[in-house]
Amino acid sequence: MLGHLLLLWLLALLFALPASLARPAPFAMRISCGAPEDVHTPPTNTLWYKDFAYTGGIPANATSPSFITPPLKTLRYFPLSEGPENCYNINGVPIGHYLVRTFFGLVAQPSFDNEPLFDISVEGTQIGSLSSGWTNHDDQVFAEASVFLFDNTASLCFHSTGHGDPAIVSIEILQVDDRAYYFGPDWGRGTILRTVKRLSCGNGKAKFGTDYSGDQWGGDRFWDSVTTFRSGSDQEKSTEESITQASLSPNYYPEGLYQTAIIGTDQQPDLDYTMDVDPNRNYSVWLHFAEIDTSVTGAGQRVFDVLINGDTLFQGVDIIKMSGDRYAALVLNTTVAVSGRTLTITLQPKEGNIALINAIEVFEIVIAESKTSVDEVRALQTLKDGLVLPLRFGWNGDPCVPQQHPWSGIDCRFNSTRNNWVIDGLGLDNQGLRGFLSPNVSGLLHLQSIRMCRNLSGNSIQGPIPSSLGTIPSLEILDLSYNSLNGSIPETLGQLTSLKKLNLNGNSLSGKVPTALGGRLLHGASFNFTDNAGLCGIPGLPTCGPHLSAGAKVGIAFSACVALLLLVMCSVCWWKRHQNILRAKQIAAREAPYAKARTHFSRDIQLARHQNNGHARSATENGPSLLS
Ligand SMILES: *[C@@H]1O[C@H](CO)[C@@H](O)[C@H](O)[C@H]1NC(C)=O
Ligand SMILES: *[C@@H]1O[C@H](CO)[C@@H](O)[C@H](O)[C@H]1NC(C)=O
Ligand SMILES: *[C@@H]1O[C@H](CO)[C@@H](O)[C@H](O)[C@H]1NC(C)=O
Ligand SMILES: *[C@@H]1O[C@H](CO)[C@@H](O)[C@H](O)[C@H]1NC(C)=O
Ligand SMILES: *[C@@H]1O[C@H](CO)[C@@H](O)[C@H](O)[C@H]1NC(C)=O
Ligand SMILES: *[C@@H]1O[C@H](CO)[C@@H](O)[C@H](O)[C@H]1NC(C)=O
Ligand SMILES: *[C@@H]1O[C@H](CO)[C@@H](O)[C@H](O)[C@H]1NC(C)=O
Ligand SMILES: *[C@@H]1O[C@H](CO)[C@@H](O)[C@H](O)[C@H]1NC(C)=O
Repeated sequence: MLGHLLLLWLLALLFALPASLARPAPFAMRISCGAPEDVHTPPTNTLWYKDFAYTGGIPANATSPSFITPPLKTLRYFPLSEGPENCYNINGVPIGHYLVRTFFGLVAQPSFDNEPLFDISVEGTQIGSLSSGWTNHDDQVFAEASVFLFDNTASLCFHSTGHGDPAIVSIEILQVDDRAYYFGPDWGRGTILRTVKRLSCGNGKAKFGTDYSGDQWGGDRFWDSVTTFRSGSDQEKSTEESITQASLSPNYYPEGLYQTAIIGTDQQPDLDYTMDVDPNRNYSVWLHFAEIDTSVTGAGQRVFDVLINGDTLFQGVDIIKMSGDRYAALVLNTTVAVSGRTLTITLQPKEGNIALINAIEVFEIVIAESKTSVDEVRALQTLKDGLVLPLRFGWNGDPCVPQQHPWSGIDCRFNSTRNNWVIDGLGLDNQGLRGFLSPNVSGLLHLQSIRMCRNLSGNSIQGPIPSSLGTIPSLEILDLSYNSLNGSIPETLGQLTSLKKLNLNGNSLSGKVPTALGGRLLHGASFNFTDNAGLCGIPGLPTCGPHLSAGAKVGIAFSACVALLLLVMCSVCWWKRHQNILRAKQIAAREAPYAKARTHFSRDIQLARHQNNGHARSATENGPSLLS
């Protein structure tokens, strides 16, 4: 028994191995938004990861507006209180070419009755904008685009337009062939193909690639169904015959797509398909054909021109001749610029022929946005954390793109040399900021203005003014008035040679205004330093005390000590001397009678000396010593 199993297993391995060696499975990442656990869905037991990689939002139960929405029970919605920009940032996506798709839903609560209208972007490029009525159209309940991902991440963002909270059911990132949908020289990293329409003709049922058992490198595309372009003037056709050349690189179209078609009638041999589009865009149109009508057996029997909005783009299309056989797939693609609001595809047969078509794909060619400098985005994130930016700012995704939805409080400028966006202004007046200004603000090298002033109810930024501000060369306006900044004005601000306006009034700053800064301000720039704890040093402010070094301060302290010591010593000396004198006087007073007697005595001696010279001299010399 075990031996049999082993043999079977070995056989299976033998057969499976060459196929898997030939081409590894494409990368596929599917997320069931709002789901607390991984989910598997029929018919192919597809794995959807539990919710992750979101920037915020709230999980909820979902109402699916369409049967084509994957059978998932949950969604994630993003209330406006969390900011207008919300994203899924998925890491670990191998560099490659991807079909990125996201389905929308409705929150299953009575208060969320209205369909939300919002915009969708991939890697900073807008790829969709919901318009009212989207819940009634199967092919509008999702947004899809083919895009190159080359920084190992996929960023999908949802942008509020003020009409309800974006609500997302699922996200799919499905790898496709590197050259999928190659349409010409403009194709590549710089372009994104936004799916506008995918139609399977003559087919009564909308299908995904998996329903067709299509190749997994085809990206599990959704094919809407159409059975007639203009009722009564065309007819459906289908076949059970197998179709050759269908599932080929780079697009791997499912064979079943070519087994149904719409064809004209004898009375009305041409075919017309008209769809609504956004005006003034370029579109990539892909048309699919296979000769599946038994009445046409060879080249020359079905020949037609293809016109788009009246311009002939393919002349004399002969399916059998061009594909090489009956029941063989033929794919034609072309690029058209459309100025109006409709795109009409016309198949105009030659005399005696009838037109046929199996499927239609229409993509808008979108120029991929350049992103904001990575260093500046990082600096902004640090700044955001430092300032304790209120949640309603959001600040998710890219600061400058999509250009329709920049972050609030940020001014952007495109640098065509570096081909990226840079931040040239911060406008955060009166926004309830209450943290500190991160020194990393200097990472925003291209800033020209910083406005973070406060009115009565607004900001209250604390701590010092970062000295790194002095390294932003083009800074012209710095308004930090009415915050709670303290410390001194950094010397480095003197390096800001472009400074035109400096408002630091209404803070708790102290110390000397840097000399270089003062000089500049006095030469034309406007400034306001009033209402601070104690700034000094330029006209209009108090003069500063002498500037003393630490050494000088120690010196002064030392001198003061010495002086005090001297004073004490002097006092002590004076007091002692005073005491001595007092005592001496007291002694003198006490000895006065004897002193008089001595005087008389000495006079007597002097008198005696005059009489007796030799003996008297020694007595006179000793006389004064007796008196002192
Ligand atoms: C979602 O629905 C389930 C039942 O299907 C219920 O138990 C759960 O509480 C609901 N969750 C929310 C957030 O309403
Ligand atoms: C699409 O058409 C262009 C020419 O217009 C052609 O070079 C290209 O190979 C076609 N792409 C595919 C995938 O057939
Ligand atoms: C359409 O394509 C043409 C030629 O490549 C280009 O000049 C033009 O800017 C494009 N228009 C739009 C709206 O992208
Ligand atoms: C400031 O930037 C440096 C270098 O980019 C980084 O190491 C540091 O963590 C940042 N500071 C903060 C507060 O995030
Ligand atoms: C664009 O970037 C380059 C290189 O960093 C710089 O030299 C140039 O001044 C920048 N141009 C503008 C308009 O900012
Ligand atoms: C402060 O500024 C904010 C935003 O500019 C404004 O909405 C608010 O009314 C202002 N408050 C006062 C007291 O001026
Ligand atoms: C500035 O204020 C902060 C608290 O807001 C305090 O910790 C810090 O010591 C103050 N710095 C100076 C120089 O006064
Ligand atoms: C400077 O700020 C004070 C309030 O702090 C204000 O009263 C004064 O008008 C301002 N001066 C100038 C020139 O703007």
